[in-house]
Amino acid sequence: MENLDHLITESQADFAACDNTTALDDAKAKYLGKTGALTSALKGLGKLSAEERPKAGAVINVVKQSVEAALNSRREAILDAAQAKQLAGESLDITLPARAQSTGGLHPVTLTLQRIEQLFHSIGFDVATGPEIETDFYNFTALNIPENHPARAMHDTFYVDDDHVLRTHTSPVQVHYMEDVLKDNKTPPLKIIAPGRVYRVDSDATHSPMFHQVEGLWVDEDISFANLKGVVQDFLQKFFERDDLTVRFRPSFFPFTEPSAEMDMSWNGGWLEIGGCGMVHPEVFKHVNIDSEKYQGFAFGLGVERLAMLRYGVNDLRHFFNNDLRFLSQFSK
Ligand code: FA5
Repeated sequence: MENLDHLITESQADFAACDNTTALDDAKAKYLGKTGALTSALKGLGKLSAEERPKAGAVINVVKQSVEAALNSRREAILDAAQAKQLAGESLDITLPARAQSTGGLHPVTLTLQRIEQLFHSIGFDVATGPEIETDFYNFTALNIPENHPARAMHDTFYVDDDHVLRTHTSPVQVHYMEDVLKDNKTPPLKIIAPGRVYRVDSDATHSPMFHQVEGLWVDEDISFANLKGVVQDFLQKFFERDDLTVRFRPSFFPFTEPSAEMDMSWNGGWLEIGGCGMVHPEVFKHVNIDSEKYQGFAFGLGVERLAMLRYGVNDLRHFFNNDLRFLSQFSK
């Protein structure tokens, strides 16, 4: 039988020349495939005599094992190289500086609301809340607002359905709160502020369709306009950190207070309107079964955005709601 040792060195050279597994499979066929050199040699064993066959078979098997070993080792080398190449392509440069983390901050209107709550809390006012979708009763009727009042018109108010509106002011919270207190069999004095969102069909540099008010209510046996003036002026002086701030009242009209007034605050030599106020109307007390012969109270409603604009020197209210981070990030601490 011919010497097959040369197949070992030839196959090693062929396999070494392959740089991918497809080429390697082609090269393998030349030795181990159906018509490969070693397969043919094995087939040739049949022609040998029974004596020669085992010896020749053993010799072919030794060569075959060497070729297979060379094939496997080359396959492993090709796969290792491919993996190393992939890993090199996916490598991360951990020396690059990290992306900056933005920390976020509170909205200027939220900061203003927090400041208002803190100042009123320090003089004994609790914080009350109410629903933003109100019934016609709480937003208007219980506050003595008559059928033909302009605030009830579609062009001023967002109606949800015939009986529900997006509240146009925080004054309905007065009614909710007084009802709840009486339900618990408590009696005045009661002393609250009610901050929150309100909605009107309004839009210009100083009016927004959604804005915030803070309602104030103090009911007791001996409350007068003097208390109202003292509380509001004290609050404004602390809020703006200016002892020289004064408040003036201008006669006005709200159906739920009598007498009623607009509150103006002295500012840079002039006067600025900051909200409405008055003494709680006996009709409102009647709706919540409070004896208006025994108790009086004052109420006020301040525009929160207006206070924020003055405090931060912002000249257009719409900046607060345009969600421009260049504007908003100036207020985060
Ligand atoms: C009221 O809403 C009354 N409920 C206030 C009140 C409460 C009176 C208790 C008496 C007793 P008025 O509509 O004036 O009042 O609104 C109060 C303040 O809200 C205004 O002075 C203004 O600062 C602010 N405001 C009104 N409309 C807007 C708006 N569209 N955008 C921003 N602020 C507004």
